Amino acid sequence: MTTPNLTTDLCGIKMSNPTILPSGFLGTSKSLLNRVAENGVGAATIKSVSFEAREGHKNPTVIPFEAGMLNAVGYSNPGAEETAREFSNLQEVSIPVVASIIGTEPDDFVRVVDTLSETRFSAIELPLSCPHTPGFGLLAGQGTPESTGKIVSAVRKVSRLPIFVKLSPNIPEIGSLAKAAENAGADAITAVNTLGPGMIINIEARKPILSFKVGGVSGPALRPVAMRCVYDIYESVKIPIIGTGGVSTGRHAIEMIMAGATAVGVGTGIYERGIDIFKKICREMEMWMSENNYNTIHEMIGIAHE
Ligand SMILES: Cc1cc2nc3c(=O)[nH]c(=O)nc-3n(C[C@H](O)[C@H](O)[C@H](O)COP(=O)(O)O)c2cc1C
Repeated sequence: MTTPNLTTDLCGIKMSNPTILPSGFLGTSKSLLNRVAENGVGAATIKSVSFEAREGHKNPTVIPFEAGMLNAVGYSNPGAEETAREFSNLQEVSIPVVASIIGTEPDDFVRVVDTLSETRFSAIELPLSCPHTPGFGLLAGQGTPESTGKIVSAVRKVSRLPIFVKLSPNIPEIGSLAKAAENAGADAITAVNTLGPGMIINIEARKPILSFKVGGVSGPALRPVAMRCVYDIYESVKIPIIGTGGVSTGRHAIEMIMAGATAVGVGTGIYERGIDIFKKICREMEMWMSENNYNTIHEMIGIAHE
């Protein structure tokens, strides 16, 4: 039997396999992107970048727990100009790289897009969905059809790159929100950002562990929620979906694809299975596909809806 073909086409971006590094993991430098590329990832997203540099929340910002991770990093990043410098010569990275751009008002997003315009990113992701950073995402009211529409339209006017809109799993009508993004010019939906916020308390210290007290839930606890979000969005829009949330095995990735995903984010899973998780997932996908007579990813996209 021939080896299954894992290549996927995401808005014209050719990926050697459907795994994608989500924003916030290892995407802070060109050398780290090259490390994930060597470990078999299909594409990677950089850590979110704002126009001005940001320190983010104070430590502790990340705490693992039995079903994943709670984080409130607070979008620490070196700002748009430094990011443009770091990611100049992106042709030295062998995989497609997605820029993740944040702001408060539509103009803030536009300023970051302008600053990065000479950089060879393959797409722009707009995370309008962070649950724990004042001034951004849900704490700036960006999870509504109106604000999503305004931000996507503003970015659409200044960039020809594919635009991915990253949604929150907290939105009950996630299909309608995805539709608003599609109507405003989005080319794909990333589903999802972290769930929550949640809280973990250190009972000896008698206070919440995270300095920001609350944070977003990622990893295994998020997976069934992310899966349902991908399923709902697939019924609402025609644009592709990047299914993200708790994926750490080939079976999970295939589940996401059957729910409707064209590509699959793998973030917190890196802590569980190591940086070569991308190679492991691809091998597991190939084995399952061979055993079940699937030759391509595209034969499996959305088949859980039939
Ligand atoms: C430590 C940490 C930092 C993150 N930083 C960002 C970020 O800067 N921008 C963003 O859009 N999402 C960020 N996320 C959310 C992830 O990109 C992803 O949507 C989420 O973790 C669910 O996927 P996973 O379960 O595979 O980790 C972060 C998540 C974690 C755990």
